[in-house]
Amino acid sequence: MAIGVFDSGVGGLTVHRELTTRFAACDLVYLADQAHAPYGGRGGEDIVQLTRAGCARLFDAGASVVVLACNTASAIALRRLQQTWLPEERARRSRPINVLGIIVPTIEAATGQPWSHEIDPLAERKSAIDVLGVFCTAATAMSRVYEIEIDKRSEDLAVFSEACPGLAGLIELGAPEEELRVVVRDHVDALRRRIGRHPDRAVLGCTHYEIISDLFAEALPPGTPVIHQPQAVADALARYFARHPEYDLGQSGRRDFLTTGQPGPQSALIARFWGAPLTFTAA
Ligand code: DGL
Repeated sequence: MAIGVFDSGVGGLTVHRELTTRFAACDLVYLADQAHAPYGGRGGEDIVQLTRAGCARLFDAGASVVVLACNTASAIALRRLQQTWLPEERARRSRPINVLGIIVPTIEAATGQPWSHEIDPLAERKSAIDVLGVFCTAATAMSRVYEIEIDKRSEDLAVFSEACPGLAGLIELGAPEEELRVVVRDHVDALRRRIGRHPDRAVLGCTHYEIISDLFAEALPPGTPVIHQPQAVADALARYFARHPEYDLGQSGRRDFLTTGQPGPQSALIARFWGAPLTFTAA
């Protein structure tokens, strides 16, 4: 049995890498749906069906808990799968299984409040508010999940999402750093023009962007605090596993990397991020 980690492609490796150190003794299986990446420009129904197929594949590979290391899948598909698919799937497999997303832990880290915290909508808003910039895919931006959920939980944070269409695809293809630098600068600049100033804090709300977090740090004003999803997700998972000992996470330290796309070595960009060449096998 294992922890499963799912993404459209290589972005979820950012979360996966953190989980491999936090849960070193557990077995971990990574699945990249590279045959269908990127997800960010796809329609909602498509994203739901692809995410469901990915989770099923990971359960087949022995996962007890699947972490959707993908904001787009978490924003668009997670609730549907939890409500309409997981109950049957649990009964069919007759073992405890679950699918968890990464937006809840990110919002908890951004607001400094537990998910259960809700503000009194009638309370007076604070006069000093911080502006939070969320860089994400078009599908995540269109879902407005960060705006809606943060607004319920924090009275001193205004959220502006900046869709960066095409960026995850470029990272997936291992585009040269110079090309990525220009695209990141353009989006940071576009957000600044829209808000009228730079954001006070930022979320890299697409796991692919974490691979080039240095380029975001370079484009944002020096010292801008950035909420990193891998750490936020690993912290939340540790708390979740402590509350849920029923999940068998394996204990042989097995690491599998599966892809629905072309098996083989990943790009030089990924090898640099990972610290060693990384090879995916056929899912
Ligand atoms: N890495 C994913 C995310 O966090 C998906 C990017 C994409 O496939 O467009 O949203």
